[in-house]
Amino acid sequence: MLMKNPLKIAVLVSGNGSNLQVLIDQMQVGKLPIEIVAVISNKADAYALTRAKQASITTFVMDKNPQGKTYPRAEFERLALNALQPLGVDLVVLAGFMKILTPLFINGVQDELNAPMINLHPSLLPAYKGLHTHERVLKTGDRRHGCSVHLVTTQLDAGQVLSQAVLDVGASDTPATLQNRVHELEYMLLPRTIDFIARGVIDLTNAGEPIVFMTN
Ligand code: GRF
Repeated sequence: MLMKNPLKIAVLVSGNGSNLQVLIDQMQVGKLPIEIVAVISNKADAYALTRAKQASITTFVMDKNPQGKTYPRAEFERLALNALQPLGVDLVVLAGFMKILTPLFINGVQDELNAPMINLHPSLLPAYKGLHTHERVLKTGDRRHGCSVHLVTTQLDAGQVLSQAVLDVGASDTPATLQNRVHELEYMLLPRTIDFIARGVIDLTNAGEPIVFMTN
């Protein structure tokens, strides 16, 4: 069980970082018992980096190598692990991180950092792993949709689900409205889940059924 105060977290991002911003805001007002010790991006132009810098959080960018080529996966992952190693990270959080991670990083986080890793995913897992979740939900005609926080394993989006937030899909919903509505849920779900982990309400070594938040 983690139960650390503050819980030292590293956040991996690729884009806007609105979920990162929620974590920063709640950390800064003392609502969330975390310390964000690093933000790592695989994109140099990710706005999430600006958000981190504005909050004086250490950032690492592993985008292009000195030859101007996008880092191959293994190289990115080795650099990221090396960056995290001295920081005493308790938990790695993937929040809008769009590069698929290989066992090198996933096992490295476990074995070298001795830390668990969680991912925020915009669907009610195990349904709709991967991309374009909102479009797929509408195409299938599902009446419920939402987001999940799950443990990261070497199988894509398949680790144990820790928490979910659920909404009712409306007749007028489009992929864009669902994206916005799911984002709003994510801004509640991710910090709450991290708070539960920090306070031992969710025990990552022995997590039971997911905690589910129903909304409409
Ligand atoms: C979120 O919808 C998350 O579920 C998905 O990517 C999006 C990231 O948004 N994995 P942001 O970068 O936090 O704004």
